[in-house]
Amino acid sequence: MAEFTLPANSKINGKGRTHAATGAGNRTKKFKVYRYDPDSGENPRYDMFDINLDECGPMVLDALIKMKSDQDSTLAFRRSCREGICGSCSMNINGKNGLACTTAIEDCKGDVTITPLPHMEVIKDLVPDFTHFYAQYASIKPWLQTVTPTPSSKERLQSPEDRSKLDGLYECILCACCSTSCPSYWWNSDKFLGPAILLQAYRWLADSRDEATGERLDELEDPFRLYRCHTIMNCSNACPKGLSPARAIAEIKKMEAERIV
Ligand code: SF4
Ligand code: F3S
Ligand code: FES
Repeated sequence: MAEFTLPANSKINGKGRTHAATGAGNRTKKFKVYRYDPDSGENPRYDMFDINLDECGPMVLDALIKMKSDQDSTLAFRRSCREGICGSCSMNINGKNGLACTTAIEDCKGDVTITPLPHMEVIKDLVPDFTHFYAQYASIKPWLQTVTPTPSSKERLQSPEDRSKLDGLYECILCACCSTSCPSYWWNSDKFLGPAILLQAYRWLADSRDEATGERLDELEDPFRLYRCHTIMNCSNACPKGLSPARAIAEIKKMEAERIV
């Protein structure tokens, strides 16, 4: 593989690299970006990138793509859809979890500091390790479970009213902005499922076609998996899709309480 060489307008100093803006134009913005490469054996650092906004798209993801294309091709981050659908580009931008592709640069005050999602293992730069998060997702069996025979119509129908109970749930893109903003998840993510996975769990509990409600509630009834939620509410404030995991968790707790009575 060809060795990476810094462009002429980039410098290495004691703390990190600085990259001057490319092209002409007076509208430049500074980005301070978390860098970590486990293969280098070096500690994490911040690099500074000056971006010429006259040559850059409007979103934080556009700035990251420009940094990678023009200034440092080793910068690692995830992205796919660039329109808030895939959930790949979740990261912390100026202290708030969000999607880089739907966060406008002009809404970021001052210099823009970009770090990976908090309290996640980092694979490289802005790429967190989602292995545990996805294992937790698999643990709630996120598919329709039925015991009755499939109807002769070949579809399990749902009334419009029952279908509407999935609104505010099905839109979740599993970006993990909510879970990684939850202090309970920071400290107990080994056992607490966290708001994203609990919202997904409720999505199946709320589905009129699902026939495993009892088993699902049994699985969740645990001092850690569900009840480590202490209604801190960071999750609902963080969700870039405007969903409320806190409300979904409250609904699960209500279902658990109602079956005890
Ligand atoms: Fe992301 Fe919102 Fe789903 Fe949480 S609830 S994973 S913040 S889309
Ligand atoms: Fe955490 Fe949200 Fe509960 S921030 S404690 S999951 S209400
Ligand atoms: Fe898909 Fe941002 S790139 S949500």
